[in-house]
Amino acid sequence: MHNFSVGIIGTGKYIPEKIITNHDLEKMVDTSDEWIIRRTGIKNRHLLKEGIPSYTMGVEAAKLAISDAEISPEDIDLIITTTEAPDYLSPSMSCLIQKDINANNAAAFDLNAACTGFIYAMIVAQQFIETGYYRYVLIVSNEGLSRIVDWKNRNTCVLFGDAAGAVVLGRVDKQYGIKESYLTSIGSMGHNLTIPCCYVSEEEKNKRTENMERTIWQDGSEVFTFAVRAMTDATKIVLEKAGISINDVNYLIPHQANLRIINGAARRLEIDDERIGVILHDTGNISSASIPVALDIYSKSGKLKKGDTLVFVAFGGGLTCGSLCFAWGK
Ligand code: ACO
Repeated sequence: MHNFSVGIIGTGKYIPEKIITNHDLEKMVDTSDEWIIRRTGIKNRHLLKEGIPSYTMGVEAAKLAISDAEISPEDIDLIITTTEAPDYLSPSMSCLIQKDINANNAAAFDLNAACTGFIYAMIVAQQFIETGYYRYVLIVSNEGLSRIVDWKNRNTCVLFGDAAGAVVLGRVDKQYGIKESYLTSIGSMGHNLTIPCCYVSEEEKNKRTENMERTIWQDGSEVFTFAVRAMTDATKIVLEKAGISINDVNYLIPHQANLRIINGAARRLEIDDERIGVILHDTGNISSASIPVALDIYSKSGKLKKGDTLVFVAFGGGLTCGSLCFAWGK
């Protein structure tokens, strides 16, 4: 047994300035502010300017997280970037970020678990730190989803936005940090949410309009039903592993895809709204960035107190799902 835990020692985020409101979308597709708010809870999403690579959001978030952790970029041993929309397949987004932040001693790779990516990356990083192989791991969840959305398709374009969240993981006092975690995948349901890349089947082509083969497609209601059940089950599993109840949780910070999914899970878990960290009204679905961005907002606004018990829970493409129980502090 170690005399330390693996915890978050710094957070950062970058949300692009440009806002697309529901009213802006009314001018682009056959939709309404009323429909979007009632069915999703989303009011705004932020978009990265055209002509700028997406990884630059991650660079800004990473710099803030490193400064918040009071270490220097040279101290970082490993960078893990989670993304659904990499600028390149190679170089990885992690290497692009490593170069720009001068993390000259860091290894770097990308991890794809769609919206569950941040939780997967936390648990991967935990293994490296717990074994003593690495001291500091930077996780950057960098999602420029506007780049893979068909802006003429109302089924998807109202849902997504751009942002990056980052955390530095390191050793913390034993009573803080990661307590328990749970990861799973359900590949047999993967066809319900697809983003083709180097191979586009006829089936995938037929789901999309011409020249939009590499955009997000989903069966919204299948994903919705899965999401409510998966978020509820994953939260219950991690609480049971940690030996605590939902009443012991100060904040549940879920992946933010749709307020109705979050509310559905919250009802089943019997947790009141005040203890759920929600930001999606202003960001839309920012995939794996949603938990670290929400965490940075909650932490910097002074809402989180040392020793608070947090649960992160997410679902996403793959399909994937995961949860993590955590004590805030370092
Ligand atoms: N504006 C107006 N009407 C719309 C819009 C829109 N933007 N989008 C769909 N509609 C219409 C549909 O065409 C449909 O019309 P019809 O009845 O005439 O056919 C009607 O609204 C109802 O459509 P549903 O799909 O049943 O609407 P629902 O209430 O299920 O909401 C939504 C759709 C928001 C997509 C919901 O199903 C959902 O949130 N699903 C889960 C999505 C999710 O979590 N995805 C994860 C992505 S994460 C990642 O990896 C990127």
